[in-house]
Amino acid sequence: MNEEEKMDRILQKGLLQGSVTKESRRGMLAAPVGIHSLGAYLPSRVLTNFDLEKMVDTSDEWIRTRTGISSRRIAAAEEATSDLCIKAARQALERASWPAEKLDLIIVATVTPDMCFPSTASLVQGTLGAERASAFDLMVGCTGFIYGLVMGASGIAAGAFESVLVIGAECLSRITNWEDRSTCVLFGDGAAATLLRPTEEGRGLLSFVLGNDAGGADKLKINAGGSRMPATEETVRAGEHFLKMEGNEVFKFAVRIMEEASLQALERAGLDISDVTLLVPHQANVRIMDAAAKRLNLPPERIISNVDRYGNTSAASIPIALDEAVQSGRLKKGDIALCVSFGAGLSWAAAVLRW
Ligand code: ACO
Repeated sequence: MNEEEKMDRILQKGLLQGSVTKESRRGMLAAPVGIHSLGAYLPSRVLTNFDLEKMVDTSDEWIRTRTGISSRRIAAAEEATSDLCIKAARQALERASWPAEKLDLIIVATVTPDMCFPSTASLVQGTLGAERASAFDLMVGCTGFIYGLVMGASGIAAGAFESVLVIGAECLSRITNWEDRSTCVLFGDGAAATLLRPTEEGRGLLSFVLGNDAGGADKLKINAGGSRMPATEETVRAGEHFLKMEGNEVFKFAVRIMEEASLQALERAGLDISDVTLLVPHQANVRIMDAAAKRLNLPPERIISNVDRYGNTSAASIPIALDEAVQSGRLKKGDIALCVSFGAGLSWAAAVLRW
């Protein structure tokens, strides 16, 4: 069978399954793929708002009322992002009784890799003993997990892979300026892993939206350490290796884009907001989540929020929240989960999943 015939077969299969039309293949898979299992790992050290009061000019009251955050987890000195990944990955694989040797691909979404290269995914592959898996990192800030989910699921839907591990993991504490009160109160460390596999018709990733607008590239960034501004004594002294953010601008963008991307993804899936069992938003700030939920007309009981305990864990935030939703019984077979995120780029993503 040549390439064209193969593509036609995939498309035909999708058409028969009703998941794809020739006109609207964008934002949908050619065959059903779902999250088979999840695992998460949060470092044990808890940094509370009261601890931060002793470090910078802030207060528990300010942090809670402006962000909804009370505490966050901080990785131990000897822990790097790949260590967090391994713990989350092992739990996901164990829960599915799926041996690492059977994995075809490992994707790690992160902005805090262990090092520039090799990729964190490569280190994870080695430690897991996933001998036949290929591995790469994906850097899209807080939006990275949904991007990874879509890439992994697309590969399975196309028949190229049978199982893919997608991990969202961050040690944001390592790129945080602990003297800058406007950012250091926001972030935390953590990881969660998802095992993707083919699923039955009508379940799994039903639709997705991915987007980027480089017009906002300056609003959320780390200046130094890349090819534009290599590391020097001066860049280190000037704090150019720390995350910088125009919080207000990101806030306004986030509220608007979360509503738009959510509605677009639901439309692609042929669903509307009343079908959503649980909104799983990027856990950045409770005010952003509340504003997005209000615009979407979703009551609080249909939104998952753990930002109070973990802060913003960037690429890890959505899979950590998904794991909590499944473990606590808030997401059960047949339920519709709407995941939506925004982040550096400025980028955005939404995914509709039938559990
Ligand atoms: N404690 C006390 N005061 C503070 C603190 C603090 N920790 N931080 C800022 N302030 C002060 C400011 O200096 C300012 O004082 P001023 O009025 O005297 O100048 C005042 O509080 C108000 O500051 P704003 O920045 O206007 O506060 P805002 O209500 O916008 O909240 C925040 C700031 C929490 C950062 C908010 O804008 C936000 O959440 N933005 C979105 C951030 C985000 O979600 N980023 C996600 C992407 S991260 C990624 O991709 C890795």
